[in-house]
Amino acid sequence: MVGPDDTVAGADGPVALADVDATLALGARIVARLDPGDVVLLRGDLGAGKTTLVRGAATALGGVGRVTSPTFALAHRYDGRDGVRIAHLDLYRLGALGDDDADLLDDELDGATVAFVEWPDVALDLLDDRVRVEVDLSHADDDTRRAVVRWR
Ligand SMILES: Nc1ncnc2c1ncn2[C@@H]1O[C@H](COP(=O)(O)OP(=O)(O)OP(=O)(O)O)[C@@H](O)[C@H]1O
Ligand SMILES: [Mg+2]
Repeated sequence: MVGPDDTVAGADGPVALADVDATLALGARIVARLDPGDVVLLRGDLGAGKTTLVRGAATALGGVGRVTSPTFALAHRYDGRDGVRIAHLDLYRLGALGDDDADLLDDELDGATVAFVEWPDVALDLLDDRVRVEVDLSHADDDTRRAVVRWR
């Protein structure tokens, strides 16, 4: 295991996340290294902590509002400091990417936005060029998780 600092410095994990706060902190550390326009792919089982990590990132960027899962809305947006926007997408409910969905994704991804995408694989073709980092989360124990962070 490596610590969160090592991971953010580029090591390939896995990182132990002992509690929710550790996952929030990882989100904050990751987003500190991102530029507007970057995309973050978030993978892991239901409840693995993907949305929690986005909450940590959005809070660190000064995004107002409560970060909730966009499973049914597909995307939520938050305004952060200095004109940076945060898009939080959850593609879980998409079986396949229709034209409308592709348009919606295109609208969400722009040069002023840092985008976090849960269940991204259905849209990988569209996202791939912009992906800066991939995070794989998994359950370790009841309240502990593991993260593998891969920077591109
Ligand atoms: N170390 C931890 N890190 C993150 N979440 C934790 C941790 N320990 C317990 N939890 C709990 O696990 C749940 C994680 O939920 P979260 O919505 O972040 O998962 P998710 O990966 O986004 O799931 P989904 O695929 O359903 O959207 C929350 O209820 C959170 O309180
Ligand atoms: Mg989620």
